[in-house]
Amino acid sequence: MDRPGLLVSPPRLPLVGASLLSSDWARLGEEARSVLDAGADLLHIDVMDGHFVPNLAFGTEACNALRNALPGAFLDVHLMVTDPGHFLPVFAEAGADLVSFHTEVVEPAGALALVDEARELGVGVGLAINPPSDISPWLEHLHAFDMLLVMSVNPGYAGQKFIPEVLEKAQIAREAMGPGYRIEIDGGVGAGNAQRVREAGVDVLVAGSAITGQPEQARAGVIAALRGGR
Ligand code: DX5
Ligand code: ZN
Repeated sequence: MDRPGLLVSPPRLPLVGASLLSSDWARLGEEARSVLDAGADLLHIDVMDGHFVPNLAFGTEACNALRNALPGAFLDVHLMVTDPGHFLPVFAEAGADLVSFHTEVVEPAGALALVDEARELGVGVGLAINPPSDISPWLEHLHAFDMLLVMSVNPGYAGQKFIPEVLEKAQIAREAMGPGYRIEIDGGVGAGNAQRVREAGVDVLVAGSAITGQPEQARAGVIAALRGGR
């Protein structure tokens, strides 16, 4: 698989990402294989530092182990950390394909410097935005990123309720960026709201509880439903 190209020329849209946060961590590799076999396009790896969010999750060792076990998998790393300048290069080194960091911890100038660093390292880069945050100061900078990640819960935990108001941000970004740009949504996404999400212009749907939180035999059906039955 042409991993970096997945976001640029996807084989099909929308793409579906499986968040490993809701998986059985004692069987992480098997869980990752299971969701890829069930049709997921990306493995979404949530990195939490206990400061930006009140929880801890996957470190570089987990990312690196998944990279070694699954060389063809697209590793979509979501940095929920206060210091993306430290963590972006170490996750690039650990085999991430794309690393997203949050608007809430950077100014535009610092964000663009991180984008330059990501380009030098050969890793994709995304911009993530929390539900209460305003997208308008970032619209003129979105073209520098490979993807916008619209959070549809306040980050920190899987299994929270979807916040529908964030869809307006996705719509605004889609209007500004046109059809060739990737807009990801993350948090509380499931078969019940996927259509609304897709209609708002989102083309990368991430789910934890709805995919890895389900028994293995249910996962392919959910992934197909998130994609829109195709
Ligand atoms: C939340 C994480 C999400 C989470 C999604 O902070 O960023 O990726 O795992 O899980 P669900 O789909 O259960 O909200
Ligand atoms: Zn996430």
